[in-house]
Amino acid sequence: MNSPRRVQHQQTDRGTIPVYATGVVEQPWDTYTKTDHQVWGQLFARQREVLPGRACQEFLDSQNALQMTAEAIPKFSDLNPILKATTGWELVGVEGLLPEFTFFEHLANRRFPVTWWIRAPEHIDYISEPDLFHDLFGHVPLLMNPIFADYMEAYGRGAMKAHGINEQALLNLTRLYWYTVEFGLIQTAAGLRIYGSGIVSSKGESIYCLESDAPNRIGFDLERIMSTQYRIDTFQQSYFVINDFEQLFEATRPDFAPIYDRLADRSSIPARETLESDRVLHRGTREGFSTDADT
Ligand SMILES: [Fe+2]
Repeated sequence: MNSPRRVQHQQTDRGTIPVYATGVVEQPWDTYTKTDHQVWGQLFARQREVLPGRACQEFLDSQNALQMTAEAIPKFSDLNPILKATTGWELVGVEGLLPEFTFFEHLANRRFPVTWWIRAPEHIDYISEPDLFHDLFGHVPLLMNPIFADYMEAYGRGAMKAHGINEQALLNLTRLYWYTVEFGLIQTAAGLRIYGSGIVSSKGESIYCLESDAPNRIGFDLERIMSTQYRIDTFQQSYFVINDFEQLFEATRPDFAPIYDRLADRSSIPARETLESDRVLHRGTREGFSTDADT
């Protein structure tokens, strides 16, 4: 096996273009530098301070069960036996973003791709593409939860199907992933909590998503989410709130083909909007929102 590369977006004269890696690589754990381990440790410690009382208990408990610590970057080979024994998932190392279909295929087979490299200290607060901290700290703990683990597999299967239908079906599913797996909130007896990986791996958004008056917080609605645009350059303007993980899994049970047909005739909803039909938990003040560049 060749030594793993670090594959990232590239700057060209037409702007930034994504570069995709395809292969599965061995995590080159011995090549991590002291700085790499320090970056992990700093981010880990910071998030573990912010997340109690903000992230859902399932996330925190699962992270403890995986025995991740601030001491050093975890080894995939130490995490895999625990994950495998709990829900049958396993981590595979990758060099960067995967092409969509390859990514979905991994999920459908209960493999979660984790970028092997970690951000540099100068990008500690923000990096535009997934790195090891986002993937491992953010995504992996909830794969220990049996219902969430099933949801992720069902998502992978659904997305493989959507890929064979058309661009719009795929966009509908990308939005679902964005507003659940990456940026989802969950209602619990103790109050509103975070489960989305994009949030739990960001200090700023962990606080903002729950405590700022600016964004909307709206009850989960599958078709509504599938029609909603999102922001990739700022904190989210709307968050969607599930009641529990069963709700998420149940929502992916029906055949999505008739849903894609219905949604094809509807126009997309801007990220900042609320609708008459929404179950609005908090109507955002939209303070500081820019109005361009929804995706
Ligand atoms: Fe992610």
